[in-house]
Amino acid sequence: MALLKILTYPDPFLKKVAQPVTVFNEALETLVQDMAFTMYAEPGIGLAATQVGEDKRLFVMDVFYNREDPESKKQPVAVINPEIIQAEGESCVEEGCLSVPEFRAEVKRSAEIVLRFQDLQQEVHEMKAEGLLAICIQHELDHLNGRLFIDLLPPLKRRIIQTKLKKRASEQSKAG
Ligand code: NI
Repeated sequence: MALLKILTYPDPFLKKVAQPVTVFNEALETLVQDMAFTMYAEPGIGLAATQVGEDKRLFVMDVFYNREDPESKKQPVAVINPEIIQAEGESCVEEGCLSVPEFRAEVKRSAEIVLRFQDLQQEVHEMKAEGLLAICIQHELDHLNGRLFIDLLPPLKRRIIQTKLKKRASEQSKAG
């Protein structure tokens, strides 16, 4: 399995609205495996295709795996062509993102959602989610619509973070 390169802000690809997946083949399975491998390695609880430069409505997630617990098993879920068909309530939880390294901030989201998606066999599923799972789904689905969690922050806070991130990105490109 391959470790994929994760794009970070301000990479323009992260603003892309991803295309629906129409071809379900071995290459898609390999991509899902590589994305899951990368997600656990980073570590993260979710990873969207656009974060690794793939123009596909697809993300992987595993919010229940606990790396501190040797009994805990990895159970990655591949979520293809996702749609939130119901959303209720409000929650505000601190989020981070592999594409926005080292910044965390509280983001307002729906508290309970119903997600419709396809799996690798093209089968359609509906999943009720709340808590961390609901947050993760909304965060990853945002990625597929070209939106990062910092885009949901109040303008002043967002600008401070964006300025710091751009400064760091330009310092890194000079150093490299
Ligand atoms: Ni993210």
